[in-house]
Order: sequence, then C-alpha cells, then structure tokens
Amino acid sequence: MQLPPGPKTPSWLIGLQFEANPFGYMDVISKRYGDIVTLMLGSTPIVYVSNPSGIKDIFTNTKEIAARGDLNRDFALMTGKQGVLQLDGICHKNRRKLLMQTFHGARMQACGRRICELTEKIISKQTVGKPFVAYPTIEDITLKVGIEVVMGLDKGERHDKIKHLFITALRYGQSAIDKILLNIFGERDLGRWSPYGYRLYLRQQLFQLLLTEVEERRQQLNFSQTDMLADLILAEDETGQPLSNEEVRDLLLSPIFAAGDASGTAIAWALYWIHRLPTVRSRLLEELDSLGDNPDPMNIFALPYLNAVCNEVLRIYPTQLFAFPRLVESTVEVMGYKLNPGTVLIANIYSTHQREDLYPEPKEFQPERFLEKQFSPYEFLPFGGGSRVCIGATFALFEMKLILATILSRYELELVSQRPERPKYGGLICYPASGVKMVTHGLRQHQEQSQILAFDLI
Ligand code: HEM
Repeated sequence: MQLPPGPKTPSWLIGLQFEANPFGYMDVISKRYGDIVTLMLGSTPIVYVSNPSGIKDIFTNTKEIAARGDLNRDFALMTGKQGVLQLDGICHKNRRKLLMQTFHGARMQACGRRICELTEKIISKQTVGKPFVAYPTIEDITLKVGIEVVMGLDKGERHDKIKHLFITALRYGQSAIDKILLNIFGERDLGRWSPYGYRLYLRQQLFQLLLTEVEERRQQLNFSQTDMLADLILAEDETGQPLSNEEVRDLLLSPIFAAGDASGTAIAWALYWIHRLPTVRSRLLEELDSLGDNPDPMNIFALPYLNAVCNEVLRIYPTQLFAFPRLVESTVEVMGYKLNPGTVLIANIYSTHQREDLYPEPKEFQPERFLEKQFSPYEFLPFGGGSRVCIGATFALFEMKLILATILSRYELELVSQRPERPKYGGLICYPASGVKMVTHGLRQHQEQSQILAFDLI
C-alpha cells in the first residue's frame, strides 16, 4: 500500500522548519504535495488532510478510524490522566455530555454580563497613551472567566493562586531559552530547577489546589451553585456511580486551559486584524452602535458582521492549526489511498482554511465571505469535528464577541506598529509572536455623538 506523498526530511528538521514559520511551512507543504500529505514520525506515518471530503471521512468514519485518548498522552501531564482528552469510547462520551451541560442557554446568558464587566474592569486599567500588550491582558480576562464559569471561583486567594499557576503553566516552554533547556534535559526530573522538574512542580501545586477545592465543595454541597464543578460533583458516570474527586479535578483542567488560552489567543488575533483594517473596524463599530448603550449580550451574539469577523479570524489564523489525531484501526480508504492500521490521521485545519477553491484570496482578511456563503463543517472547522469537536465552541464565540464588543464600543485603541504580526507555535496553539502591542487613546464616543459634535463644529 502506498502512502500519500510527503517530505523525506528527518522529523527533527521538519519540527525546526515548522517552529520557525508554522503557517509558511504548511503553505509550502500543501503547495508541493497537495491536500493529503504524509510526514513520518520514526516508523509511524502521520497523514495530514486538508480536503473536505477526506476530513469528512476522518470525523465521521467511526468504524475504521478511532479518536483514541492515548494519542493525546503528551498533554496528560498538565490536563490530567482522567481528563476528557485522554478518554475514549463510552466513558469519553459520558464525560463530554457532563461537561457540556454547563454551557446551556440560561447559564450563558447569566455569565454574559459578567464577561462584559470583567472586560471593562481590566481594559479600563490601561493608561491612556501608554502601550500595552493585548494578549496577556485578554488572557487575564479569559482565564478569569474560565475559572469562574468552570469552578465558580470569582475571587479570593485560591482563585488568584489557581490563575497564576495556569498562566505560568501556559507560558512555560514558550520562550527560546525554555525550548533549548527542554531539548537539552528532556523529560528528566532533576528537581525544581530543571525544566521537566519545574513542570512537575507546577502540576503538583495546581492539581493539589484544584483537588482541595473539589473536596471542599463536595463537603459543603450548595445546590444553588451553577458552574461546571457543581454539575460534575452531582453527576453520575456511565455505570450510575458518582465521579471521584480526582476524576472531577482532571475534567476541569482542559476546559480551563482552553478557555484561557485558545479563547485569549483568538481575541488577541481579532484585535490585531480589526485595528489593521480601518474599513473592517468602522463597519463593526457601525453595527455595534446600532444596538445602543448597554446592549443585551444575546443581541451582541446575534450580530451578523461581528459573527463574520470572528469566523474570519478563526479561518485565517485558526488558534489550533490541527484537530487532535485519529488512529486507523482497520484498513481504510481515504481520498483514494488505502491506509494501514497504525496510521495516524490529522485534520489540517489551517491548510483547509487556506484553500483557494473555498476561500479566494485566502491571505486576505475578508469577513464578507462568511456573509455571502455558508461553509460546511468540513470546509470551516476551527473547532475540529466528530467525536472530539470542541465542547466550548459556542461559549468561545459568545465570549469572543462580548469581549470584542465591549472593548471596541467603549475604547479607542490603535496598533503600536503597522508591521505584520508573526505567528508563534506554542505546543498546540499559534500565538501572535509580539502579543499584539496596542495603545489606548481613552474612551470612545458613540458614532451618533461624534456626528453631533462634528455638526456643532461646522
Ligand atoms: C476560540 C477558542 C477555541 C478554539 C479555536 C478551540 C478549538 C478546539 C479544537 C480544534 C479542538 C479539537 C477538536 C477535534 O480534535 O476534532 C478542541 C477540543 C476541545 N476544546 Fe476547544 N477551542 C476553543 C475554546 C474552548 C473552550 C472555551 C473550551 C471550554 C470551556 C474548550 C474545551 C475543549 C475541550 C475539553 C476539547 C477536547 C474535546 C474532546 O477531547 O472530546 N475549548 N477545541
């Protein structure tokens, strides 16, 4: 059986080329080899697919292709052995269902106002005229929202410590020096001052704090509490048994990491694109202003142009370039290639979103394409698909829209530099390399007010 074509370069060199320029490298590979490409990892073929019909097979053929949890073991250190990423089969299905209960309409509506308040509080701290880096500022909001929605913790010493540990864990390994040290020392625990030892230390601290919170909450059950932790404490597994405290803790980890990191990154990229393109910003402001002062979060969520802008941000620079890997369990045909058991399949989100036939002028930021055309879930897939599709997709879009609407309608912001922002790959997510440097010029006047002022001046 012949594998799809691909580079013969050693995997360590591919890793370096990809890290140096992730989007550029994927563009070169797609151009040279097409929309189904094999990269060898030792003796394991990893097949990347950026063709909608191939992606449909990966997400829907559950007979021959499995979304196995052990393929995600690299993430287990920080997201727990019993976290949703590590699970598969019935157990995975059950835990996903439990986690998704949190995001029902009434609860989302209730936390909408809170998201706007938190955004206002954090952005108002920026000094007028003094540059700030958008990504960590936004991450501060998204992590706070994540911890609140997931654990119901809104303040206090434990909340601050948990947030700090999540941020440290997310940042660790991103800088060049961390990467060099991790390469030299590998996964050897040489104490807290060695790279792997430090990650183990962070993990131990974070896991202990979360476990204490779970234990306390179970002991003082409060039925009026409405968060993911409360749902999980009362939940039953597929055999009708309650979940253990360790299981509950592990299930909380991925959603908090994702809520802070993936959402924060997407919003930072959105701020970059919106402020780079004045026509996009002014059309967005016109739409936001049409809702008047203090709009209902649900009305913000329904705005068509804001929706198109968020989709275009997630198309052009999807925060997660690839879906999680799937495994061929019995011989299967994908796009004319017969693939053997043991082959790993990856839906390549980035390269699908760069297809000229789906998205003409794919390097151009054009939100209008989402107003003119409806894309299938195999053509536009920022949240993956199939049995592992992102559990927080609707919530992430809700949060993204509310944070952007609050910032844009209230504040006059500008990019510090007009230089294009480079993407930087950090484990799973593609961050803006400089973090998007911005400056605030203070409060913004609504368009009608600005028009009256302009009229007065004539
Ligand atoms: C813009 C923000 C986000 C993006 C772009 C994003 C993207 C993704 C993608 C691509 C996947 C993999 C799906 C697959 O393999 O098919 C995923 C999985 C996941 N996401 Fe998100 N995500 C975001 C926000 C969130 C939020 C806010 C949460 C929770 C509150 C969340 C929780 C998860 C979890 C738990 C999984 C694993 C699901 C499983 O293994 O069954 N994500 N996400």
